[in-house]
Amino acid sequence: MNPFQASIRCTEEVDVNIFTILQRIRKNKMKSKILVTGGLGFIGSHTVVALLEQDYDVVIIDNLSNSSIEVLGGITKITQKTPEFENLDLRNKDSVIQFFEKYPDIDGVIHFAASKAVGESVENPLLYYENNLNTLVYVLKQLSKKEEACFIFSSSCTVYGQADEMPISENAPVKKAMSPYGNTKQIGEEIIRDTCKVHPGLKAISLRYFNPIGAHPSGEIGELPIGTPQNLVPFITQTAIGKRERLSVYGDDYPTGDGTCIRDYIHVMDLAEAHIVALKRLLEKRSENNYDVFNLGTGKGNSVLEVINTFEEVTGKKLPYKIADRREGDITAAYADTNKAHNVLNWKAKFTLGDALESAWKWEKKVIEKENKES
Ligand SMILES: NC(=O)c1ccc[n+]([C@@H]2O[C@H](COP(=O)([O-])OP(=O)(O)OC[C@H]3O[C@@H](n4cnc5c(N)ncnc54)[C@H](O)[C@@H]3O)[C@@H](O)[C@H]2O)c1
Repeated sequence: MNPFQASIRCTEEVDVNIFTILQRIRKNKMKSKILVTGGLGFIGSHTVVALLEQDYDVVIIDNLSNSSIEVLGGITKITQKTPEFENLDLRNKDSVIQFFEKYPDIDGVIHFAASKAVGESVENPLLYYENNLNTLVYVLKQLSKKEEACFIFSSSCTVYGQADEMPISENAPVKKAMSPYGNTKQIGEEIIRDTCKVHPGLKAISLRYFNPIGAHPSGEIGELPIGTPQNLVPFITQTAIGKRERLSVYGDDYPTGDGTCIRDYIHVMDLAEAHIVALKRLLEKRSENNYDVFNLGTGKGNSVLEVINTFEEVTGKKLPYKIADRREGDITAAYADTNKAHNVLNWKAKFTLGDALESAWKWEKKVIEKENKES
């Protein structure tokens, strides 16, 4: 960019910011009010912390189907602030309508609430279509009544299936979904895209997460799987702490360096930060389109054995594991092309795999400490 272009861009940004400030003054408030659905869940709680730290007003909706009210205490402990909280099931359309009547000044929504277990979605598809799609439609319906609103959607790299090329860019084709869960993310994105087309005041971004792991460095909040963990890292930490006898590595005959599957593991703290950046882009009207999609990953793939080795290195704990048969539906490799997020959002993951695993371990130790106290 030459100095002339830079000065134009700078002037535009100042204009946009002044415009936003004037709008806020007109609305008689300086802070944006953000609804975080699923805000007591794993990624939601870390994003709520990031929002509060940046001085947003936050209202959380969560029905506690996959979280605990204690998470609210963790958020308060970290931020010294307590966000408003509504224990509400988004599948109840009337409750959603009443919520937006009670909070007419919501400027934006970050929509995490959903069911996320792939295996369960195969066994109970209607639960997934109802919880992941009805809820989305009900929230969007209320938002689209507003003159202006912002919406961030939790999508997933699962929409790419086994991509033909690595790293995976946002231009890679969306493949036929391999599970009802994956299908809800694909359909969810289409619902948002179609809605934005006819509601120009509604501005939305779908964020396609790769593999979120880790916990807040304080150890006050983290991933709290109910029952047997579906993901690798909680399985690792629960095995290391002695809750599980040994870890199963599903398949060592994939066409990768060491034969185990490769994924792009991203620290939940980086993910939380990316939500703020995406939200700001929409609130400050810096987006050219009113709908866009971004990958959120580190851009680096790590095999299951690399994750195990890194965990052992950073924690000094030996992990008992065995090689098991391949799991149906597992793809060989997935890691993100992060150029779009970097160039457009000016966001890049900062934390390493070791940082993320260390924080997950700290969290697991806190969880067991608490469980022991309670028993
Ligand atoms: N964690 C991952 O590996 C991953 C990867 C890609 C995408 N995602 C998506 O990110 C989002 C958040 O994931 P997470 O890992 O934080 O999940 P999570 O289960 O920890 O959080 C979801 C939260 O939503 C709440 N919730 C669910 N249904 C609800 C309803 N009907 N009404 C109100 N609250 C409801 C749950 O109680 C929970 O607190 C989900 O949409 C998920 O599909 C997650």
